[in-house]
Amino acid sequence: MQGKYRQICRFIEIADDLIKDSDLKRDAPLSIIDIGSGKGYLTFAFYDHLTTGLGRRCHMSGIEMRGDLVNFCNRLARELDFEGLSFVAEAASRASPPHVDIVIALHACDTATDDAMALGVRADAGLILSAPCCQHEIAPQIKDTGDGLQGLIKYPLLKQRQADLVTDAARALLLEASGYKVKMIEFVSTEHTSKNILIAAVKSSHADRVTARKQYQALKNTTGFSTQHLESQLKDAE
Ligand SMILES: C[S@@+](CC[C@H](N)C(=O)[O-])C[C@H]1O[C@@H](n2cnc3c(N)ncnc32)[C@H](O)[C@@H]1O
Repeated sequence: MQGKYRQICRFIEIADDLIKDSDLKRDAPLSIIDIGSGKGYLTFAFYDHLTTGLGRRCHMSGIEMRGDLVNFCNRLARELDFEGLSFVAEAASRASPPHVDIVIALHACDTATDDAMALGVRADAGLILSAPCCQHEIAPQIKDTGDGLQGLIKYPLLKQRQADLVTDAARALLLEASGYKVKMIEFVSTEHTSKNILIAAVKSSHADRVTARKQYQALKNTTGFSTQHLESQLKDAE
């Protein structure tokens, strides 16, 4: 649990700094969605930090497909009198809240991370903070396209690691192409988790959307993948 505790503390610290630097108004209540909230460790801690710690009003929802965890978290939120905090049992791809300021996702499995990002883009969220988890979509698609990848992808372990990086790069570029400035942050050391990249996206009118779109297409051409869940979700929303 020490590893999880450290991840949550760092996640909140980073979110805190980004909120302070953002356009999210201090006096307006914050609307926050946590995708793949699980047992709610991050959700409860972030809610408590914002309300008790910073005195901000906020409505926070955890979206989690496991009903038993949702019931447990809703019960706990009631016991703690966390009035603005609730949990909903549904798949991330089905969540469509009317208004969202911030989307967070800590190790939402596989393409649930893409669903979190797509939800944020569709809702025009000011911040999307996501630490991806396991990734299975891109690895089987990566192939030698004649750009010298063969030496990397013939070893299954290296191919999977390469695919993880390609997946996160693809996500970052799609977020930039959707009008976000993106930072990749190593938010905890690998001693605590190997899933230690936090993709922090801040809505900005200065994002270079055209360059990002070109770089995304070049990444696809070089590595040979044709299907990416965030891309499909964003296309469906057009
Ligand atoms: C690795 S756990 C992380 C839980 C929590 N964010 C944390 O860090 O403690 C991932 C959670 O995401 C949930 N999940 C996976 N795919 C999902 C989806 N498509 N929609 C909603 N929840 C999902 C799982 O049931 C699981 O509880």
